[in-house]
Amino acid sequence: MQSFAGKVAIITGASSGIGRALAQQLAAQGCHLALADIDAEGLEVTTAPLRSPDLRVSTHTLDVADRDAMHGFAEQVLAHHGRAHLVINNAGVAVSQTIEEMRYDDFEWLMGINFWGVVHGTKAFLPHLLAQGEGHIVNLSSIFGIVSVPTQGAYNASKFAVRGFTEALRQELCHTPIKVSCVHPGGIRTNIARSARFYQGVDGKSDAGKAAARFDQLARTSAEQAARVILDGIRAGRPRILIGADARFLDRLQRLLPANYPRLLAKLLIKS
Ligand SMILES: NC(=O)c1ccc[n+]([C@@H]2O[C@H](COP(=O)([O-])OP(=O)(O)OC[C@H]3O[C@@H](n4cnc5c(N)ncnc54)[C@H](O)[C@@H]3O)[C@@H](O)[C@H]2O)c1
Repeated sequence: MQSFAGKVAIITGASSGIGRALAQQLAAQGCHLALADIDAEGLEVTTAPLRSPDLRVSTHTLDVADRDAMHGFAEQVLAHHGRAHLVINNAGVAVSQTIEEMRYDDFEWLMGINFWGVVHGTKAFLPHLLAQGEGHIVNLSSIFGIVSVPTQGAYNASKFAVRGFTEALRQELCHTPIKVSCVHPGGIRTNIARSARFYQGVDGKSDAGKAAARFDQLARTSAEQAARVILDGIRAGRPRILIGADARFLDRLQRLLPANYPRLLAKLLIKS
C-alpha cells in the first residue's frame, strides 16, 4: 500500500494513544476511517477534528472481546464504506500483577481484549479482504511479545500469542495479495499504564500512581512517533515493525541471550 489516500482504514482502540494518533495521521493523508472503541466519549474526541466533507469517518462503540459484536461491526463498516483496505487491531489493556496472585477474571479480561480482540478483528475482515483481492492486516503485539518481564505475565502471554497468530496468518496468506504486519512497540507515552488493572509493581510495591508516572518517564516515544513508524512500515510492506530504541535493544538481547535474558531483566527490574 503505497498511498493511503482514498483507502478505508479500520482502527480499534481509536479513543486514545496510538489508535488516536493513527486516525489523525491517516485522515491527514486522505484515508477514510472506521473507528472503534469501547470508550464512546473518547471516540468523539478523536473524531470531531477529523470530520471534513472530503472524508468519510464512521464511529462504532465496540467491545473487541465480543465476537458477535466484532462481526456485526465488520458488516456495518462494509455497508457504510463499501470497502475495507487496512485493518489495524490496536485495542489493548494491561494488568500488573504476579502470576501467583493474579485473579482469573483479570487474566480473562485482558486475553479477551488483547488476544481474542485481534483474532476477532482478523477473522471478521479477512474474507472481505480476500474477496476484494487487496488489503493489509496490522496486529498490535508489543516488545513484551518478544521478551517477558515480571508482573506482566498475562500481558506477555497475550502479546506472544498475537505474535504467533500473526506470523502464522502471514505464512498462510503469503501466496495472496493480503499483507500482514505485526507491531512491537517499546514504551509509548499513552494512557495504557493509567488504564491498567494495577495490583503489583515489578519492585514488589503496589502504587499505581507512581508506576504510571515511572512509565511516562521511561516511555521515550510519543504516540505520534509510534503512529508514523507504523504507517511507514505498512507503506514499506514490513512484516515486523519494531518501535523505539528500547524495543530494538530488547529484541537483540532476546536473540543474543534467549535462555539468560529473563534472569538478567528480573535482576535489573526487581532491584530498581
Ligand atoms: N503504550 C505502550 O507502551 C505500548 C507498548 C507496546 C504495545 N502497546 C499496545 O498498543 C496498543 C494501543 O495501546 P495504547 O498504548 O495506545 O493504549 P491506550 O490505553 O492509550 O489506548 C488503548 C485503547 O483501547 C481501548 N480499549 C480498551 N478495551 C477495549 C475493548 N474491550 N474494546 C475496544 N476498545 C478497547 C481503550 O478505550 C483505549 O482507547 C495496545 O494493544 C497496547 O497493548 C502499547
